[in-house]
Amino acid sequence: MSEPLPGPGLVITPEGLRGRTGRYEKRLSDLDGLFADAEAFAARLEREADRVIYHVDEFRPSTETGDLITGISTLSPGRVGAEFHMTRGHIHAKHDRTEIYHCLSGHGLMLMETLDGQTVVTELRPGVVAYVPPVHIHRSVNVGDEDLVTLFCYPADAGQDYEIIARSRGMRHHVVAEAGGWRLEENPGYVPR
Ligand SMILES: [Fe+2]
Repeated sequence: MSEPLPGPGLVITPEGLRGRTGRYEKRLSDLDGLFADAEAFAARLEREADRVIYHVDEFRPSTETGDLITGISTLSPGRVGAEFHMTRGHIHAKHDRTEIYHCLSGHGLMLMETLDGQTVVTELRPGVVAYVPPVHIHRSVNVGDEDLVTLFCYPADAGQDYEIIARSRGMRHHVVAEAGGWRLEENPGYVPR
């Protein structure tokens, strides 16, 4: 009988995902145009353009239909003006591809939006799994005061379209701080699709 082969055995460590195939970082300077308060963004950019706002470790065995991409996203706490740190956000290039995010630590939101502008929010606390249905734009928002760490998993052939958010000048709602918590605020510049 032949010996079994070892699987990749992904392990979550404080440093990220052991067994990863890739990693990327987004610094403050990469997030130009994301936040509503341009003055507050410019002020922070002067002081900390190179600060890493979030990073992603991923295991991407292939991009074949039927395969899965698994990873860990770590989003730092903080605000630009009243708005909380968030990821760029995207819709999957293949619109019907879904995703789950399992919150490992921190306090955040999975902010989602349908193509006709309906906002959907799942609040993330440790243990919560957020399901991103087909054809939903999605981004993570850190509304807490520590790192928001989530494990995500999505089909390997999904792809990402980031421009869908830029074309509408943002998502329909901003997530802003209020009285120690958060609330949604209409994005006044939002362009319906
Ligand atoms: Fe996604």
